[in-house]
Amino acid sequence: MADEIGFGVLGLGMGKGHCRSVTEAVGAKLVAACELDAERLDPIVEEYGCKAYTDYDEMLQDDEIQVVNVTVESGKHAEMAIKAAEAGKHIILEKPADITTDKIDKLIATVRDCKVKVGCIFQARTDDLNLAIKDAIDTKRIGKLIGVHGHLPWYRAQSYYEGAHGSWKGTWDIDGGGSLMNQGVHTVDLIQWLGGGVQSVMGMYGVFGHDIEAEDQTVALLKFKNGALGTIYTTTCCYPGYDQLITIYGSEGSLMKDASKLIGWRMKGENEDGEEKEMMAKFGPKDEREENVSADPTALKPRGHTLIIQDLVEAIHEDRDPLIQLESARHPVAIINAIFESSRSGREVQIDG
Ligand SMILES: NC(=O)c1ccc[n+]([C@@H]2O[C@H](COP(=O)([O-])OP(=O)(O)OC[C@H]3O[C@@H](n4cnc5c(N)ncnc54)[C@H](O)[C@@H]3O)[C@@H](O)[C@H]2O)c1
Repeated sequence: MADEIGFGVLGLGMGKGHCRSVTEAVGAKLVAACELDAERLDPIVEEYGCKAYTDYDEMLQDDEIQVVNVTVESGKHAEMAIKAAEAGKHIILEKPADITTDKIDKLIATVRDCKVKVGCIFQARTDDLNLAIKDAIDTKRIGKLIGVHGHLPWYRAQSYYEGAHGSWKGTWDIDGGGSLMNQGVHTVDLIQWLGGGVQSVMGMYGVFGHDIEAEDQTVALLKFKNGALGTIYTTTCCYPGYDQLITIYGSEGSLMKDASKLIGWRMKGENEDGEEKEMMAKFGPKDEREENVSADPTALKPRGHTLIIQDLVEAIHEDRDPLIQLESARHPVAIINAIFESSRSGREVQIDG
C-alpha cells in the first residue's frame, strides 16, 4: 500500500502485542522496534523482519517512522511521548497515559504545540458489549443512572513483582501505585466512561499479600458527576483470580457483566424477557474459554489494540482526532490519584478535571 503509515514500537513487554497489532491493522507497517533487552528485541526482529534499535533517540531520527508506540514502564510514558512529539511523530500511548496528571498535562501541551496525534490505549472502550452498555446508559434505556460498580479480584504471584521487568511494578515512582493504577486503571476508566465522569472519591488501600511498596488492594466510593454513586475494588491478592465484574443500576433497568460476558440485562418494558434473551445470545457466556487475564497477564488478545492503531492510521489520513484522546485518558489517572490522596487523608477528595 502506497500510503502505509510506518510504526516504531518502544519497549517489548506489552509492546510485543503492539508489534502484532501493527501488522494486523490495515494501512499500518511495522518499521522498527526499540528495546534495551536483547532477549526481547532479537525474536521480534526475527519474526517481523523489522529494524532493531537499542537507542530511542536514534529510532526517533528514522524518517520511515511516523508513529511511535510508547509501551515502556508507566512512569516513563509522558517523557518518552514528549520526545516522540518533539521529533514530529504521532503516538500510540499505553495505559495509563502516565502516573500523574501534571506529567499528562505537560504531554497534552507538547502534543498541541507539535501538532501530532495521540491514540490512547483503553481497549475496553472498543468492546462491542461495553459499547452496547454505554448506549443503554446514554440513551436513558436504563432510566436514571443510580449506581456504577467495578470489581477486579485478580491474582498475581510475588514473582510478577520481581526480576528485570517486574521490580518496577507496585512502586509509587514508576508504577504510580499497584492494583489500582496498573491492573485497575482499565476498570476505573471503564466505569468513568460508562458513568459519565467522577466528581469525588473516598478510598482506602493497603499491602495485603505481596512484598511491594505501593498497594495490592484498594477500595473506594465514587460520586459521579451526574449524581450516581459507585464503587471500585481492585486487588492482585485474590487467589486464584476472578474476572472483572461490572454492575450498572438504573431506575428502568440494570445489567451485569463478567469480563467480556454479559450476565444479566433486565430493562423495564413489554419485551423484558425477549430483550434479555437476545442480548444474552449475543454477549452471554460461550462454550469456549475466553481470554482470562485475571491470573495471567500474557493471555491478553490484542484485538482492541489493533482497532486503536487502525483508528490512528485513519485519523492521520483524514486529519481528525483519534478515538481515545489524551484529555479523556487523563481522567482515570486523576481519579486514581484522588483515591490514594483520600486514603491517606481520610477525607473525600474532589477530582481536578
Ligand atoms: N493495555 C493493556 O492491557 C496492558 C497490559 C499490560 C501492560 N500494559 C502497559 O504497558 C506498559 C509496559 O508494561 P510491561 O508489562 O510490558 O512492562 P515491561 O517492564 O515488561 O516492559 C517494558 C519494556 O520497556 C523497555 N524499555 C524501557 N525503557 C527503554 C528505553 N529507553 N529504550 C528501549 N526500551 C526500553 C524495557 O527494557 C522493557 O522490556 C505499562 O505502562 C503497562 O501499564 C498495558
